[in-house]
Amino acid sequence: MRPKVLVARAVFADAVERLREHFEVESNDADEIWHQAELIRRLQGKAGLFITGTQLIDADLLASCPLLRAICSMAVGYNNVDLPACTARGVLVSNAPDVLTETTADFGFALMMATARRISEGERFLRSGRWVKWSYDLFAGADIHGATLGVFGMGRIGQAIARRGALGFGMRVLYHNRSRLSPDIESTLGATHVTKQQLLRDSDHLVIVVPYSPASHHAIGAPELALMKPTATLTNIARGGVVDDAALAQALRDKRIAAAGLDVFEGEPAVHPGLLEVPNVVLTPHIASASIPTRRAMAHLAVDNLIAALGAGPSAGRPPTALNPEVLAQR
Ligand code: DGY
Repeated sequence: MRPKVLVARAVFADAVERLREHFEVESNDADEIWHQAELIRRLQGKAGLFITGTQLIDADLLASCPLLRAICSMAVGYNNVDLPACTARGVLVSNAPDVLTETTADFGFALMMATARRISEGERFLRSGRWVKWSYDLFAGADIHGATLGVFGMGRIGQAIARRGALGFGMRVLYHNRSRLSPDIESTLGATHVTKQQLLRDSDHLVIVVPYSPASHHAIGAPELALMKPTATLTNIARGGVVDDAALAQALRDKRIAAAGLDVFEGEPAVHPGLLEVPNVVLTPHIASASIPTRRAMAHLAVDNLIAALGAGPSAGRPPTALNPEVLAQR
């Protein structure tokens, strides 16, 4: 009998078709948002699960689904998955790194530019019919070229943003990361490692790209915002929860910083009401990786992982981007 697999959210039909070549597949083509009990109910008898970054995989779910052997996500971030609990139960987990790096960096840069140059405010103004004359200071914002870019979290996406800033826009690049880059990568990117305090104090445009974990929860809150320049912008394309949205809304209201660009939110898709009230914030619905080719590549990478993790296809037993490959050795 072929293993059974659940696809928890709607995804490209050709990706689901590839799974059907190997497995008996139940897919969520209607893209319903299943509550946890419904997800667990549908997982009964399933060996594999295809997820996005929005399903919670915790110890309770794992205990309720003893046949589960592989959980493959099309997201790079996996803060929704209790990885140690999966490893303890011998469940392989994979994410989707690399394929989204450049697209996400493009978007981070675009959001930072829209924020600094007040593009959303300007468009809202024009659409509302209030534009009656040119003025010397109409939506005058901050420059990007030649400014100081601060990158908080210097993984693959952080480095791709730094490269755009240094090579494309002549920016001075500062970064803060748990581990420092090698001197040759630092010199290629023209990036200087600084303390978190210095990053906050010196950046004209701060971009948050650090993964969410209990350690990064509210890494940017009121005390950190208080260190920033009043002319600075903050862009968050990492995860909601890294920034304290209530504190940020207050800082934007008080003009403690000039503006923010946010693609991710604490408790999304809900958005802190204070953020909806202030004009100096550009808000987008978690779409940093959302180009069609990239979303397709992310989905197919998750499919590659699921096929291989369940022992099928040309890479059987060797899922390409496993987060806990050690579980395979125990099988
Ligand atoms: C990711 O891949 O982590 C993106 O944020 C989409 O969830």
